[in-house]
Amino acid sequence: MQNKAVVVGALGVIGRYIVEKLVEDPDWQVVGLSRRTASDGPRYRHIAVDLLDADYTKRELAELTDATHVFYAAFQAAPGSASNFASNTGPNREMLVNSVTAISRAAPHLKRVVLVTGTKYYGVHLGPLKTPMRETDPRHMPPNYYFDQIDWLTAYQPGKAWDWVELRPQTLCGFAPGSPMSILPAIAVYAAISKELGLPLRFPGKPGAYGTIYQVTESTHFANAALWAATDQRCGNQAFNITNGDYFRWRNLWPKIAAVFEMPVADPQTICLTQHMTDKGPLWEEMTAKYKLKRVPYTDLVAWPFADYVFGADWDVMSDVTKSRLYGFHDAVDSEAMFVRLLRRFREERIVP
Ligand SMILES: NC(=O)c1ccc[n+]([C@@H]2O[C@H](COP(=O)([O-])OP(=O)(O)OC[C@H]3O[C@@H](n4cnc5c(N)ncnc54)[C@H](OP(=O)(O)O)[C@@H]3O)[C@@H](O)[C@H]2O)c1
Repeated sequence: MQNKAVVVGALGVIGRYIVEKLVEDPDWQVVGLSRRTASDGPRYRHIAVDLLDADYTKRELAELTDATHVFYAAFQAAPGSASNFASNTGPNREMLVNSVTAISRAAPHLKRVVLVTGTKYYGVHLGPLKTPMRETDPRHMPPNYYFDQIDWLTAYQPGKAWDWVELRPQTLCGFAPGSPMSILPAIAVYAAISKELGLPLRFPGKPGAYGTIYQVTESTHFANAALWAATDQRCGNQAFNITNGDYFRWRNLWPKIAAVFEMPVADPQTICLTQHMTDKGPLWEEMTAKYKLKRVPYTDLVAWPFADYVFGADWDVMSDVTKSRLYGFHDAVDSEAMFVRLLRRFREERIVP
């Protein structure tokens, strides 16, 4: 029987790369779910559904009788701060419950549910924490919607023919213009505007963040990990950290980023990007015309609060990926080379000058 994946949150930063990975593999058929509509394609079918509507979800997903795998990468932000975990908990638990329950009831051959969480499981967003973060580390003080999702999934699964895997990535990096919650376009646009204004490239984050250890997960690498996690028998009912597998310091990377944009580097100067970059929309309009850039609305290009969050971590951010290696996932990405490669692409494809 052919594998049939249901990618929940198929248009998201993570979901879209899982879809991309699976549709190029002839062993897979893919169904993507999200509220927005999207075109079907070879081996891909899209279902637009609001997962918060339990009855509608049950009806729409009842036809997925041949689903074999679920990749759950949906996320709905509550209004206000992204770190407001208390208000995020209800909807994000409910979307998982409604989709997995509906698919589990419809699909007798379901083998595995891959749940995407992240290093916020460890409280990486709260401040300094124990590093390296290991899968066995105790949770932080709730609330955190990941806890509610995992607790529900592990309580619902016993007695089912399928099992689950939980993957914990950090700061996804890819080439996806129009997906603003990414550090790549933030760096690219910040650098381009600095250059346009005759400024050197200064690290805009906290002074301590320049020298601490950081880590990221390339989106394509994460998709490879998700495929591995879905299909390797040993992964059942296990959680894994998934990052590029290396660590870097912005201090060492910054000159390489400056070289991509042919700019001089200067000492860090902490600014709130949300405050200093939000008003640059008109300048970006001018630059778009002057340099014949592809037209992406400025607000769709970068979410500056996300960049402030990443550049504000003046504590080590460091996962241990030994467990995934021991269980058989051996891919690795050179993060510094990844930044150079992806930022060059932002220039080459005329997203930034
Ligand atoms: N991005 C990162 O760097 C990162 C890093 C670590 C962990 N994570 C975790 O990974 C998970 C996914 O994050 P993401 O960044 O990929 O999220 P995202 O880009 O915001 O994508 C969310 C997806 O969920 C769909 N969705 C939202 N509400 C829905 C609803 N009511 N019904 C149906 N679909 C709905 C969205 O499509 P529609 O809007 O069309 O509905 C979209 O396809 C989250 O738990 C996040 O914390 C992300």
